[in-house]
Amino acid sequence: MSATWLNNAIFYEIYPQSFCDSNGDGIGDIPGIISKLDYVKSLGCNALWINPCFDSPFKDAGYDVRDYKKVAPRYGTNEDLQQLFQVAHEKGIHVLLDLVPGHTSEEHPWFLESAKAEKNEYSDRYIWTSNAFMPGDGMPFVGGEFPRNGTYILNFFKCQPALNYGYLKKNFNWQKSMDDPACQATLEAMLDVMRFWLDLGCDGYRVDMAASLVKNDDEAYSGTSKIWKKVREMLDAEYPEAALLAEWNMPQFSLKAGFDMDFYLDWYGNGYSSLMRDYEGNMDSEIRQPNNSYFKRDAKSDVSRFLADYLPKYEASKQDGLWCFITCNHDSLRPAPALDVEELKLAYAFLFTMPGAPFVYYGDEIGMRYRKLPTHEGGYHRTGSRTPMQWAPGKNLGFSKAEPEKLYLPVDPDLDAPTVAEQEEDPDSLLQFTRTLLHLRLDTPDLQAYSPFEVVSAKEGERLFAYRRGKLLCAVNPSEQWQSLALDGDYETLFFYGDCTIKDGALILDGPAFAVLKPAN
Ligand code: GLC
Ligand code: CA
Repeated sequence: MSATWLNNAIFYEIYPQSFCDSNGDGIGDIPGIISKLDYVKSLGCNALWINPCFDSPFKDAGYDVRDYKKVAPRYGTNEDLQQLFQVAHEKGIHVLLDLVPGHTSEEHPWFLESAKAEKNEYSDRYIWTSNAFMPGDGMPFVGGEFPRNGTYILNFFKCQPALNYGYLKKNFNWQKSMDDPACQATLEAMLDVMRFWLDLGCDGYRVDMAASLVKNDDEAYSGTSKIWKKVREMLDAEYPEAALLAEWNMPQFSLKAGFDMDFYLDWYGNGYSSLMRDYEGNMDSEIRQPNNSYFKRDAKSDVSRFLADYLPKYEASKQDGLWCFITCNHDSLRPAPALDVEELKLAYAFLFTMPGAPFVYYGDEIGMRYRKLPTHEGGYHRTGSRTPMQWAPGKNLGFSKAEPEKLYLPVDPDLDAPTVAEQEEDPDSLLQFTRTLLHLRLDTPDLQAYSPFEVVSAKEGERLFAYRRGKLLCAVNPSEQWQSLALDGDYETLFFYGDCTIKDGALILDGPAFAVLKPAN
């Protein structure tokens, strides 16, 4: 069963610390988000995903949760978050929170209990080996920090001990099987967290590292999938309209395990990467040349690498849910400045007319640029994609009234740093283009989540790519060269950008252009 509202959902990802600071302490907060909901709505977005906003020591920007049931004071209170749900709902916006089920902060009270020498209720909530000198059977581990005579397994950074959902295949006695009561208790604790915010009005969860729960899992993730099926059973019974979105990037597994959606993530060198981030240094952000991304005007690439990756997984999963395109996220390099504004327009036109539910990362709608910055809160190369939202020219680009040195991260100092206010006034801006396309999608059932997708033209070495969504025909040409597509019937234009003409039974895209055609009747 799937949440019915997803068919027409368009998401906006908000990184709460960088979106809007309402009280001048330099950090974005929940009242700030509430004050910008009309803006989000005006874009055409009707759903939010908010990165973790829970109590945390912030060694991984909040993905190290210390209290799942408490909003981090720097963002506000639980009441503020409830208020956000309510105001969002009044505006027709659904809200997903970020659930981090695979690990907690090393400061979480469960972990501190489990680290004690004396056995207690939480001793097996995390994965501990049987003595302080024992390595982690291939997993990263930490020893020598606590009285307990064991080492503990990490799920990500050192500050993120792995919660214990058991092992599919056990090699050692300290590894519990999935049906061990301690592992069942971990799942119960996570269901309890989910219910807590769902009862207060949240509409579901983006699930962090969703594939990571069961250790020594098989290649089809059957152990971890079993857990998500149980979560789905609970949701179906108690919250049938709640949506579950995986950070997994394997829709062939995640959607069968009960997720409504999965992301198509930028995994260096994969199909998505070949469209927008095909350059050396994608991970360390230094080198952007040569950029051979499909959407780069003068690149030589066609869509073959994208299709080879996308099509089999799309076909294998389309019955089960949505595999979703993102402009970017808090872990990837922003597409700008590697792509310029015109290139971004074509890339977005493509992303927003594909199946699934599209995700706009805050600021990508105005072409906010990746910045080379020192690491902050465990960001490393990701830090440069997490800078404050650029609302308007002037102090801190409208993000905060704080003194600049107090900001979560510095705002883009470029004199031509894009802002919302300026782009609102410019009919040719990326902001207006994004808005137009998202509204086109909202108003056009054939462009929405489940409407069928089919490749029409993707010739080897050719820059033109054409695809069908329902009865509509979409075509993109990212290059300066003239491209044409023979049409299989009479069409008229529903939307176009750039130089597009229909002539003698062909669609001609002369230079960078994008068109959506509908059958003439
Ligand atoms: C996910 C998050 C990332 C975080 C990691 C550990 O990949 O998106 O930001 O650092 O998980 O929780
Ligand atoms: Ca604040």
